[in-house]
Amino acid sequence: MPPSVVLLSLQLLTLLCLASARARVTDPNCAAPPDKDSTLRVTHAYGPCSPFRPPKLSWEDALLDITSNDASRLLYLSSLAVSTRKTVAPVASGRQVLQSANYVVRVGLGNPPQPMLMALDTSNDAAWLPCPACAGCPPSSTIFDSTKSSSFTPVPCGDARCNQVPNPSCQGTSCSFNMTYGSSAFQAALSRDTLHIADDIFPAYIFGCLQKVTGSSVPPQGLLGLGRGPASLLSQTQDRYRSTFSYCLPSFRSLNFSGSLRLGPAGQPIRIKTTPLLTNPRRPTFYYVNMTGIRVGRREVAIPPSALAFDPATGAGTIFDSGTMFTRLVEPAYVAVRDEFRRRIRGKNATSLGGFDTCYEGPIVAPTITFMFTGMNVTLPLDNVLIHSTAGSTVCLAMAAAPANVNSVLNVIANMQQQNHRVLFDVPNARLGVAREPCTV
Ligand SMILES: *[C@@H]1O[C@H](CO)[C@@H](O)[C@H](O)[C@H]1NC(C)=O
Ligand SMILES: *[C@@H]1O[C@H](CO)[C@@H](O)[C@H](O)[C@H]1NC(C)=O
Ligand SMILES: *[C@@H]1O[C@H](CO)[C@@H](O)[C@H](O)[C@H]1NC(C)=O
Ligand SMILES: *[C@@H]1O[C@H](CO)[C@@H](O)[C@H](O)[C@H]1NC(C)=O
Ligand SMILES: *[C@@H]1O[C@H](CO)[C@@H](O)[C@H](O)[C@H]1NC(C)=O
Repeated sequence: MPPSVVLLSLQLLTLLCLASARARVTDPNCAAPPDKDSTLRVTHAYGPCSPFRPPKLSWEDALLDITSNDASRLLYLSSLAVSTRKTVAPVASGRQVLQSANYVVRVGLGNPPQPMLMALDTSNDAAWLPCPACAGCPPSSTIFDSTKSSSFTPVPCGDARCNQVPNPSCQGTSCSFNMTYGSSAFQAALSRDTLHIADDIFPAYIFGCLQKVTGSSVPPQGLLGLGRGPASLLSQTQDRYRSTFSYCLPSFRSLNFSGSLRLGPAGQPIRIKTTPLLTNPRRPTFYYVNMTGIRVGRREVAIPPSALAFDPATGAGTIFDSGTMFTRLVEPAYVAVRDEFRRRIRGKNATSLGGFDTCYEGPIVAPTITFMFTGMNVTLPLDNVLIHSTAGSTVCLAMAAAPANVNSVLNVIANMQQQNHRVLFDVPNARLGVAREPCTV
């Protein structure tokens, strides 16, 4: 094919993708009542009503993609945990069909408000969106058209906000910043506009308008950083939401269910088990907790204390993360859990699939897993422990060791293990709570 034909078919493909994305968003079956009471519906990025649904993959391919994406996210999180300002370029993973940030909410941005889908990410502070004339943004992006908003303003160089973003630079008279995300790098113009969250209005919300993207791990939707650093949504809405929120993430076995993101102290669960949040001054974004042990069934497995210890100097410890799909434990912790788990599955040998090394054919009688934190034990039901194939009868322990090719010190409690639980992030009281709740809004 001559190059012009290739270009044309690529454009056609892009157009078709955009058309089908729009069709799905406007499908009457996908209509949802408007969000209210500072609470947003949370849906899965691959759900039937999501414009970001990837092309149909087999279960095995999907798992391979998810676990390779998770591996690159882990490298990324580890690089954040150990470095202060410099961002270590993470190793690129293979195919990037599925993105790591898997849960999306709908917000309004600008005047009049444009509906935007944004992925939740508790391990990032910044927020960003694809804007017009973005070079390299994913083709299925929903674009925030800043030219159609009467309240949009670029943040000028020298503004104090410009010092809160990573790698700021001056482009003409306005402030831009550069970041790595997963295996991608991007440049975004620091911008200010009105943010609508459910019924709440924030007139001077600061976010990044994507200008240039390289690599493919920037989610096609925008990203909403829910970390607790200075530039995050929490810091910017402090007067109203008091750095308090909770979410309930729906299971991805039921992609058409939605959960909720509840912002602010009102309506948060009162009777909930909690553990203290730990602060790492070198990495103020992350929600660190003190994991003290892990039980498989009723037995606490032997994990060297150094594998769980919190150490701000190295970034070591345990975080809760909304953007990693499967829990990753540092090698000695994972091996201890896995070996005990395997010992409990009698008469069957484990096989590997994708990033999982403990899979079985046919139904198994599996033990529960309990994460033990200071002041709080969380016993996971089997739905949070096992991942089942949709077609066949393969079932896997839905956790893995941290990637081996990184000096990884971080344990990450991921979203598969949080599904159908309400997870409360209460920064003023320095606590994180967990309670079982079916997320079937
Ligand atoms: C930011 O990234 C752009 C390309 O994406 C590059 O040209 C520029 O030099 C970078 N700036 C900084 C301060 O790293
Ligand atoms: C939602 O998914 C369930 C299976 O997970 C299915 O039975 C149900 O019909 C679906 N509902 C809609 C509205 O698509
Ligand atoms: C974590 O818990 C262990 C065991 O109770 C304790 O020894 C350690 O001091 C705690 N670490 C922090 C940072 O609270
Ligand atoms: C499990 O593996 C061992 C050693 O490879 C073998 O002897 C045994 O027969 C296998 N058991 C099953 C149930 O496949
Ligand atoms: C967690 O479980 C252990 C036993 O495995 C128990 O000793 C401890 O008291 C429990 N902690 C809480 C807060 O219930």
